[in-house]
Amino acid sequence: MRDYEPYYTEDGSIGLYSFADKDVYHSKFGAITEAWEKFVLPSGIEKMLNKKQEINVLDICYGIGYNTKALMSFVINKNINNIKNKKISDKLRNIVSIYNNNKSDKKNKKISLHNDTIHDNNTVNLSRINIDCMDINEELLKLSPLFKTIKTPGEVYEEIVPGIFSCFDSYYKLKKIYENIARIFYPKNRKEITELLDLKFKNMHINKEYKINELVNYILLNKMQIDFNDNYLTDEIKKILTERPTSRFFAKSLIKYAKFNQFWGYNLTSNSILSTFLHNIYYATLSKRYKNINFKAAERLFNLNFNIGDARKSIKRSKNTYNIVFLDAFAYTKAPQLWSVEFIKEIYDHLADDGILLTYSNSAQIRNTLLENNFYVGKIYNKNADKFVGTIASKNKLKIKYPLNNYEIGLCNTTAGIPYHDPNLSYTNKEILELREYDFKHSKLMSSSKYMKIRSLRGNNDK
Ligand SMILES: C[S@@+](CC[C@H](N)C(=O)[O-])C[C@H]1O[C@@H](n2cnc3c(N)ncnc32)[C@H](O)[C@@H]1O
Repeated sequence: MRDYEPYYTEDGSIGLYSFADKDVYHSKFGAITEAWEKFVLPSGIEKMLNKKQEINVLDICYGIGYNTKALMSFVINKNINNIKNKKISDKLRNIVSIYNNNKSDKKNKKISLHNDTIHDNNTVNLSRINIDCMDINEELLKLSPLFKTIKTPGEVYEEIVPGIFSCFDSYYKLKKIYENIARIFYPKNRKEITELLDLKFKNMHINKEYKINELVNYILLNKMQIDFNDNYLTDEIKKILTERPTSRFFAKSLIKYAKFNQFWGYNLTSNSILSTFLHNIYYATLSKRYKNINFKAAERLFNLNFNIGDARKSIKRSKNTYNIVFLDAFAYTKAPQLWSVEFIKEIYDHLADDGILLTYSNSAQIRNTLLENNFYVGKIYNKNADKFVGTIASKNKLKIKYPLNNYEIGLCNTTAGIPYHDPNLSYTNKEILELREYDFKHSKLMSSSKYMKIRSLRGNNDK
């Protein structure tokens, strides 16, 4: 097991720091917020939902799945009335039985789901969302549904310093005074209190909609248990889930649910026992908002497919054409394998004509890599922050609302834009970095610093 340190990000969701990679997996400003603002909202799924029969999504670098979870939440929230509607859920139940009929052959099971539609003349047409999730790290994938993902900074705060929580909203301007009071009453938690006060105050703006629907955790858990079977809760994972200090980051009801399923076996459990158990779990945990929701109906909206291993191999194996691709790899200097011209070409070849690729990266090098692959390239605009927060690419020009400006295109044509190459998608990180170093040394392109200097001398400030 690799060594991770969980931490609360500024929107209350859990982030991971990896000691092995010496890197954070999630933005400290908010793992969920980032998933919503850089991936789900700009994906345009709202326009496709329930218009396209199937929406194919590729989540490259699934990690603990925030991007997939946020997307699923979006779909569930949009369909909430449909999901609650008995008629539709009856229809969906037919698909469950097709699914169960093939349970001896996992692959067939998946194919049959894939080919089904949930359309019927008498019912509302709901899109099926097929999500292919790729990640090299199996442990993370298994931890994925178990993270508490719906905490807000307020809730985090409330748990740790309940005694003074109520003071905040009305005494915003007296932050310092309350900080001092808190220190007197809770001397041992000094550092935590200060951090949390900052957290609370910094995040007044965080959009309350950016929550993960708790139902998503159960859906993911079910799918993973079908895929991983007995192998799901390893001793190492159990240890992380149950021992301090990490246990506070995990949802207890989900762990209970996972253990139950593992012990009794999903398929062996009689329907009555299972449904009683599920009833209790769901109603205990989802009762606030989803009292009347039909869990099975929601589950059938999604077909999740987990691909463990190097995404360079997984994508080559995939025969799907995607409408939406999330590329959430580590920074390009750390994970050059997933930013090369050749890997991006694979994405291009797997993208539908009106499909889009989204990434958090704003770098000239990555944008140039996309341009070299004949993508139309633009920026992701975040309304809340009033700034550009990532890059969007498509084969269809009309999908690009904020194209790169002249300055940004110019920057791509400097040495800063020199891309990575990974012939045959088989090089090591080191080899790819060395190859670029060679290209850089032998390049006749202008350096980015010279380019910026010339632009500013000419008074071109269209950054
Ligand atoms: C920035 S994190 C992604 C965070 C993730 N989207 C989430 O919501 O948790 C980068 C991920 O890339 C994965 N990764 C690194 N190299 C990979 C490779 N060659 N193929 C597939 N996944 C890889 C890591 O295991 C890690 O989970």
